[in-house]
Amino acid sequence: MSTNNEEMIVTPWEVSGRIDYDKLIREFGTDPLTLEVLETVQKHTGTLHPQLKRKIFFSHRDLEWILQRYEAGERFYLYTGRGPSGPVHIGHLVPWIFTKHLQEKFDAKLYFQMTDEEKFLHQDDFTLEESEKWTYENALDIIAMGFDSKKTKIVIDRKSMDVLYEVAIRIAKHVNFSTVRAVFGFHDSTNIGLTFFPAIQAAPAFLESALLGQNVPCLIPAAIDQDPYWRVTRDVAPKLGYYKPAQIHCRFVPGLGRGGKMSASMPETSIFTVDPPELAQKKVLDAFTGGRATVEEQRRLGANPDICSVYSYDYFLFMDDKEIEDLRYNCFAGNILCGECKHILAERVMKFLEEHQRNREKAKAKFAEYLFNPKDL
Ligand code: TYM
Repeated sequence: MSTNNEEMIVTPWEVSGRIDYDKLIREFGTDPLTLEVLETVQKHTGTLHPQLKRKIFFSHRDLEWILQRYEAGERFYLYTGRGPSGPVHIGHLVPWIFTKHLQEKFDAKLYFQMTDEEKFLHQDDFTLEESEKWTYENALDIIAMGFDSKKTKIVIDRKSMDVLYEVAIRIAKHVNFSTVRAVFGFHDSTNIGLTFFPAIQAAPAFLESALLGQNVPCLIPAAIDQDPYWRVTRDVAPKLGYYKPAQIHCRFVPGLGRGGKMSASMPETSIFTVDPPELAQKKVLDAFTGGRATVEEQRRLGANPDICSVYSYDYFLFMDDKEIEDLRYNCFAGNILCGECKHILAERVMKFLEEHQRNREKAKAKFAEYLFNPKDL
């Protein structure tokens, strides 16, 4: 559990403390998603996606540049990913929902990398056999999201290494140890698999250009924890004659406890896509809220949605603009009690899981169709 006083840590492997997103923009050297940038996005998408309106996606690099190129007739592709180490939780779905929206609006191809070596290299007790199991299980979640099968290729590292390796070694030749040590905090005892790994996660950012033999702009939607990889990737790009990949970064969906991001390492405060709906219901009913100690106090003084995990869920995933506005008002005004809110959310989560789980079942027959095969190009 994290508290407000804990130091903020945001790395690809650890996110803890109270996250100050403005500070991250400054420290990581990214740009805020300003109204002007959002207006340019809206020109192409018609309406603004709720994740943009709500500043869930809050930061970017080169988004304007990629839209200018798009306006000039140069199509971009999307790249995102998953490091399979356990079940997918519904926080992971936030960047994927947005990626799907971008795919639809810009008719864009998507490379979805599954780094099935990453957690094996990173965690002492995680085996390659477990990785294989979770890669398949997580791929079902990705397919269940409904990405366009003709435009989406799932790149599983160990199955696509012949193609990825060539790009990765070209990248690796331009990245020295002191750079990855500074960016990722590696030290003398870090295994050499991990020190090479950033080149593998960078590779899909140039994959389309490498395969087509011409520069294709790439846009990476992900939460901001993945940003260290993109900093290294962007430094190398000009040395290889490629465009720097653009990024759009989202915030972290919090867990159902008091603070901290949703994380598979805290199963009791995470909702997994494979949770039986009744278990998810129980987790929501046990969630931390911004409520008062007694009903009487809550009616009189109102509650605090800004610290409430149930409200966060509604905000990130489950409520439209009108509903969220009403909920916020009614919460502050003491018109609604936490028990009622929890029940509303639990119903929606259960409904969502039932549908997602049906789609996961159907995804089993589509797995091969989504797998990356360079011969399909
Ligand atoms: P992984 O598996 O840790 O996370 C998958 C994606 O989910 C995002 N994410 C979250 N988003 C919102 N709320 C949360 N609580 C939350 N937790 C995780 C991550 O930012 C990521 O976008 N190394 C990567 C795999 C990868 C990748 C990529 C990710 C390979 N290539 C390209 C993004 C883009 C990883 O382990 O992600």
